Amino acid sequence: MTVNFPPGFLWGAATAAYQIEGAADEGDRTPSIWDTFSRTPGKVLGGDTGDTATDHYHRRSEDVRLMAELGLGAYRFSVSWPRVQPTGRGPASRAGLDFYRALVDDLLDHGITPVLTLYHWDLPQELESAGGWPERGTAHRFADYAHLVAKALGDRVELWTTLNEPWCSAFLGYGSGVHAPGRTSDLAALRAAHHLNLAHGLGAQALRAALPSRARISVALNPAAVRARTDAPGDLDARRRIDALATRIFTGPLLDGAYPADLLADTARITDWSFVHSGDLDAIGHSLDALGINYYAPSLVAAATDNAPLRADGHGGERSPWPGAEGVAFHRPPGKRTAMDWSVDPTGLHDLLMRFTREAPGLPLMVTENGAAYDDKPDGSGAVHDPERIAYLHAHLDAVRRAIADGADVRGYFLWSLMDNFEWAYGYSKRFGAVYVDYATQARTLKSSARWYAQVVRTGQLPP
Ligand code: NOJ
Repeated sequence: MTVNFPPGFLWGAATAAYQIEGAADEGDRTPSIWDTFSRTPGKVLGGDTGDTATDHYHRRSEDVRLMAELGLGAYRFSVSWPRVQPTGRGPASRAGLDFYRALVDDLLDHGITPVLTLYHWDLPQELESAGGWPERGTAHRFADYAHLVAKALGDRVELWTTLNEPWCSAFLGYGSGVHAPGRTSDLAALRAAHHLNLAHGLGAQALRAALPSRARISVALNPAAVRARTDAPGDLDARRRIDALATRIFTGPLLDGAYPADLLADTARITDWSFVHSGDLDAIGHSLDALGINYYAPSLVAAATDNAPLRADGHGGERSPWPGAEGVAFHRPPGKRTAMDWSVDPTGLHDLLMRFTREAPGLPLMVTENGAAYDDKPDGSGAVHDPERIAYLHAHLDAVRRAIADGADVRGYFLWSLMDNFEWAYGYSKRFGAVYVDYATQARTLKSSARWYAQVVRTGQLPP
């Protein structure tokens, strides 16, 4: 039996402010940690920055028209904190909020549902200078910011996501240092993870206080689909450790109201977790109306041995972002790979959707990101053919469809990304878009995957 995607399924595409907006010095915007980081030589490939990015700040209307041409039902974007609340505290910037009001109005005029992410990694630099995510105060600043954005846009946005991939903010930003702000401290990374959880909880409270009751609140996690290389006890233990650090460090407080005991034990050498104050877990728990899942590739782990590779976790950099998992080796999964060198394996997405169906019964799920980078280039006629991306999307949408058939309550799917953009430490060298961007002219060209996706969106069905 062919199970179709359910009625009302949100077919979307996603972006993030720093990756597309540019206009880094316009309006009242102050620098974010990504401005500081990308302007520091050696941090981003090719010295690329988000100063101009895809110039979306000036091409907003054209980009919304593109979305309409693709027939998108929803668009997931993020608000730049330093654009709407310069310096991360105090009053809002009228110019900053006006940009997002205009964007949302444009989307609604085209029948596209806005899905707003409050934090996609661009912390105001002034808050980092005051200590950043390892400090508790940042969570309170986030709640104030959430309240301010909800007051301004709550009359027209119903779907809200607090944080995008807090794992990356904490462990790549403060642990391995391959992301902004580029700090390298295991303790700072664990403190950051807790304060991001707290920011989500306090932010959700602030949103509920300001938003109409129909609003829905989610967080977008990147849980690890982690496999053990063999069933040997050491390999299974490696999987347990990475699962704790990648996934349960967030879903524990969010879904079960506690940090997992094994995580506390694994990290006891680094911290006693006394930065978790009484009341924090109450604020974090029971805060979700939906869970967002970003999925790209699975991980394969084993117990480290003398001749096993220690790092192949797909995040780059020399230093491990896994505090407390010293005995774990990451292996390259077999099979096809994308331009990120990430393996193509849609079963990981099915596994995750089924896992949260079991672990969070009754909580709707959304695939808030899924997609792939390939080395796309225009051919002689200017067309961009990307059959590998079509195959990737097809296989992963099929995994979503199978999960729905198996009982998962999946409410939407957001292709990452609407268009090529600034891929963090890789700069503009990696292209994830369904729309090709010529960075010299900022011309947008639909890739063949965009046309393919438009057909899926229009029919609500996967081609055979
Ligand atoms: C997840 C992040 O949310 C997004 O910003 C990034 O570009 C994609 N992964 C691809 O790496």
